[in-house]
Amino acid sequence: MADILDGRKLADEIKSEVKKEVETLNKIGIDVGLSLLLVGENAASAQYFQATLSACRKTGITAYEFKLPATITVNEILNVVNKINIDERINGLLILMPLPRHINSRRIINHIVPEKDIDGLGAISVGRLAADESTFQLFKKDKRDVDQQSRFIPSIWSFLPCTPFGVIRLLEHHNVKIKGKHAVIIGKSLAVGKPLSTMFLAKEATVTVCHKETADLGRITRQADILCSATGRAGLITGRMIKKGTVVVDIGINVLKGGTITGDIDFNSVSKKASLITPVPGGVGPVTISMLLENTVRSAQRNELFKSPLLVMG
Ligand SMILES: NC(=O)c1ccc[n+]([C@@H]2O[C@H](COP(=O)([O-])OP(=O)(O)OC[C@H]3O[C@@H](n4cnc5c(N)ncnc54)[C@H](OP(=O)(O)O)[C@@H]3O)[C@@H](O)[C@H]2O)c1
Repeated sequence: MADILDGRKLADEIKSEVKKEVETLNKIGIDVGLSLLLVGENAASAQYFQATLSACRKTGITAYEFKLPATITVNEILNVVNKINIDERINGLLILMPLPRHINSRRIINHIVPEKDIDGLGAISVGRLAADESTFQLFKKDKRDVDQQSRFIPSIWSFLPCTPFGVIRLLEHHNVKIKGKHAVIIGKSLAVGKPLSTMFLAKEATVTVCHKETADLGRITRQADILCSATGRAGLITGRMIKKGTVVVDIGINVLKGGTITGDIDFNSVSKKASLITPVPGGVGPVTISMLLENTVRSAQRNELFKSPLLVMG
């Protein structure tokens, strides 16, 4: 029977670290601010909005709420993003997805200045990740080293997307070796599958990415040492599709009839063969929000170091 990759425990640890760092900034008169932008009435987004607000409260981050009607135009949203971009109180902007169908979401996301793109989904952040200019954040041993690097090389100011970043953190927290392993990722979205594949490559895994057109998915998943699924298809992966000892990360979130939340993995059959497995809920989800807060506090620290180069945080 597999051991559990406990996301809640790691999330609490990251949050308490964030809280301490926020307090340090507060002592020198700096408030840390995160803006949340919700357009329309999507229930899942509203839930994520509330969960992030509550996490902000627990860590001392000031949340700035922007709730806009579904009928809003692209230009009006861009104006709100413009305001946030130049607001000195705000260190990061999270835009809840999906946006209403008439809105070109890439246009909106690309309008966030990279220094505040704490979910790492804008074209500049995506490009810097692909070019290996921001992957140094995956290797942080001492946070101050990273901030010193950022201080001298402002061009690499970019953040890593929170969900895949959280997956890597969760694996490393449980001492899962990545280097040299075969990581199989199911899903190739810009928010999850694609950046996760880049992060695994940066960590020197051998990577295979699967999607809807992948023929004979089981033949590939059975080769995985580490299997990550991000499809939103409940029960896609069963015990017969993995080899014994695989580390299984379930990123999917599916709401079943009656409201039960489940992942992409058939937990009962897969947990009998896996060595480690994430539960859903309680796996990747809580870590994602913590990474968002960590990126926000990092944004505030980098900003401060950039503007007061002689100041040493600590
Ligand atoms: N835990 C968290 O914090 C967190 C964060 C973000 C997302 N999620 C969850 O993760 C899931 C994926 O999110 P997303 O934003 O990446 O979704 P998405 O943009 O819809 O992408 C889904 C991906 O899964 C692939 N796929 C769908 N059905 C498949 C199948 N039967 N076999 C193989 N591949 C299949 C799709 O392939 P094609 O590209 O070929 O269509 C696509 O690449 C969702 O359940 C979402 O709620 C969780």
